[in-house]
Amino acid sequence: MTEGIRRLFAKPSTGGVPGPFPAERSERHITGPGSGLAGAGKKEKMADTVRIGIIGCGGIARGHIQRLLGYGAQIAALVDTVEANVERYRRDFPRLSGVPVFRDYRDMLGSVELDAVQINTPHAFHYPQIMDSLEAGLHVLTEKPMVCSVRQAKDVIAKAEETGLTVLISYQRHYQPQFRYIKRKIEEGLIGKVTAIAALQGQDWLRGTAGTWRQKMELSCGGQLNDSGSHLLDILLWTTGLSVERVMSFIDNRGSEVDINSGTAIRFTNGALGTITVIGDCPVWWEDFTVWGESGAIFSRNGRMTVALQGKEPFEPADLPGGSDPDRNFLDVLAGRDVNHTPPVCGLRGIELCEAAWRSAELGRPVSVAELG
Ligand SMILES: NC(=O)c1ccc[n+]([C@@H]2O[C@H](COP(=O)([O-])OP(=O)(O)OC[C@H]3O[C@@H](n4cnc5c(N)ncnc54)[C@H](O)[C@@H]3O)[C@@H](O)[C@H]2O)c1
Repeated sequence: MTEGIRRLFAKPSTGGVPGPFPAERSERHITGPGSGLAGAGKKEKMADTVRIGIIGCGGIARGHIQRLLGYGAQIAALVDTVEANVERYRRDFPRLSGVPVFRDYRDMLGSVELDAVQINTPHAFHYPQIMDSLEAGLHVLTEKPMVCSVRQAKDVIAKAEETGLTVLISYQRHYQPQFRYIKRKIEEGLIGKVTAIAALQGQDWLRGTAGTWRQKMELSCGGQLNDSGSHLLDILLWTTGLSVERVMSFIDNRGSEVDINSGTAIRFTNGALGTITVIGDCPVWWEDFTVWGESGAIFSRNGRMTVALQGKEPFEPADLPGGSDPDRNFLDVLAGRDVNHTPPVCGLRGIELCEAAWRSAELGRPVSVAELG
């Protein structure tokens, strides 16, 4: 450990950051106020090279660091409550060996010249870290889920609009060809008005996350539904453009503090219906979803797509668009070269569904989004 790091870690935290945390786990990578060039707003002067502070140096941080450095950004500070985690990145990335390190992100916000932060912490910390970073005049690239309640999501959207700063959620599926295809084709009217959706996600999540922050309510705010499930909820809502009106859900925690298995029935604001089943004690990995429209349907089975149009032979589409990733989009938005493909409204739509499901299971009755936040 270098003397510089020893000194920074020896510094008393300004409080509010519980610890220590369990060792990081690697997660299978599956993977967003308004939209548009929000980043070109409030900040009048941006350095030629975007200076980013990384908050949370666990498993998912590696990919972000690699990509951001690869796209020419500067990692200007690292934050983690566990010094060994920061040490590892300073060792693995020679360009990070001299950057300042902090245990409390607020110390970084108060002392390092930055343009943006990139957040990879347990879910309970996203909201304060996003809000404080925006308050400090910084753009935010945050890991999913953006936040843990509808109220928090609305606060983030309002703060981003007030400051003119970009908040982009790292939902990588928005950048993957098959999901871009589905969204585009639905928008073009290929299957007509969307009438129903059905989705299923099975993972060995209960065993895979045992003993980590993911199953501690205080740190995660919930289980698989707002963790891996967040990708599924988000991609359904994003590709179809649907918004949830009301939800009836049954949840079985399987002995955990947080939701593990859930079955959720949904009515959307346009009258479409849907079901989502998330199984966290599934011995095998499986994911699929189907979107039905008035004149066709799109089936996605573990990423493989089939399109079925009325009166025609089903086909597997070949004309897929290109791919990208949230880190590239973030830098492009800040440079004024692209729009935000994972804006905070996606975080709001997802948490509407998730929070309504949690509340419905708790109350034993349907819950409408209008009752939340
Ligand atoms: N997009 C994806 O596919 C994907 C995949 C994995 C994880 N994630 C998300 O990334 C985030 C982090 O997940 P992970 O798998 O890297 O978890 P992890 O446990 O590996 O890493 C979390 C890190 O945050 C640190 N930390 C904890 N509290 C902190 C605080 N208050 N301030 C600073 N650092 C703190 C921990 O010490 C740890 O190093 C979560 O939001 C998770 O849902 C997304």
